[in-house]
Amino acid sequence: MTIKGLQIGDKISRIPIIQGGMGVGVSLSGLAGAVAKAGGIGVISGVQIGFREEDFLKNTLEANKRALVKEIRKAREIAKDGILGVNLLAAMTNYKELLVTAVKEKIDLIITGAGLPLELPAFVKGTQTKIAPIVSSGKAAKLISKVYDKKFGVTADLFIVEGPKAGGHLGFKENILEEGSAPSLDELLLEVKEAVKPFEEKYNREIPIVVAGGIFSGKDLAHYLKLGAQGVQMGTRFVATDECDANLVFKQSYVESKKEDMILIKSPVGMPGRAISNSFTDKIMKGRIPIKRCYNCLIPCDPRTTPYCISDALMDSADGEEGLIFAGENAHLIKGIVPVKDLIAELMDEAEMNLVDKI
Ligand SMILES: Cc1cc2nc3c(=O)[nH]c(=O)nc-3n(C[C@H](O)[C@H](O)[C@H](O)COP(=O)(O)O)c2cc1C
Repeated sequence: MTIKGLQIGDKISRIPIIQGGMGVGVSLSGLAGAVAKAGGIGVISGVQIGFREEDFLKNTLEANKRALVKEIRKAREIAKDGILGVNLLAAMTNYKELLVTAVKEKIDLIITGAGLPLELPAFVKGTQTKIAPIVSSGKAAKLISKVYDKKFGVTADLFIVEGPKAGGHLGFKENILEEGSAPSLDELLLEVKEAVKPFEEKYNREIPIVVAGGIFSGKDLAHYLKLGAQGVQMGTRFVATDECDANLVFKQSYVESKKEDMILIKSPVGMPGRAISNSFTDKIMKGRIPIKRCYNCLIPCDPRTTPYCISDALMDSADGEEGLIFAGENAHLIKGIVPVKDLIAELMDEAEMNLVDKI
């Protein structure tokens, strides 16, 4: 094996691949456990994780906390010595409560996207839990690093740099994405490396950087390792696996999608998102879908004006009903649904071949 593992502080993942957290209900214990068991880092999405609990509608916060504990424990059962993370969005109203719950469960890693997680170090102080903010610019990495340094005297344990080809919410303005003028993932990686350098020097430690967005093959993995990333985070490819926790209808829509089906949509999160065009996206393009009930899930969402309810849209699709199916730009390249173990083996073999080629 020529490929180095991904080291995050004292934790080493043999396979330098993080399976991206995917909400709602796409990456739970089934997928995260399988990835961690295969030697990668498995990530449970905490977003509305309690949606299948009986009291979810009446008692949303408690249902979410309870389900998070259950999913972490189930994933640990699957991957006893594996590395597990929880993905939370800083824009969620229950962000802090779920964060505290995951840390209490001794989760290995907290990954936070959709907003700047400036208070994150306070929640893991004195624990073994590592922190990984998701950024889409060197500027964000620098700002987070400055605040962590000044306020907490620490650095992030890892940065995940998400580029414009990713699935789910994107950290770029819609017009920039449509024009195709967003920086490439290659450029972003170098920008973030530069931004964290002064903090690596000050703290005399390496801050690993993992790239995400559009990574499809072992060749892509090799490319980013050569460019200086310590690993990759992948979402889309892990959807088309047996162990992915979404309904088969959701997975099948990836297999059947074509290049022209990959579209950008507006989201109540206040960021654009990439999804597969379907009857639900046709509806939201035509006009507002009034809210049936509000879960009060997102800080930036106003239920009186929001174009649709993102919670309902994502919970429905995860259950195989009409809803929003997030997907990365390369989802249309997927040919079938495979076991996680086989996908990781294929990616690693291909990456090794591509790394050896260049030596
Ligand atoms: C169905 C789906 C749901 C996602 N949900 C989340 C989420 O809840 N939180 C988050 O930080 N990222 C989310 N993402 C982004 C992934 O974690 C990952 O960074 C991204 O998919 C990488 O790009 P790729 O899909 O091209 O591999 C989602 C992506 C997909 C495809």
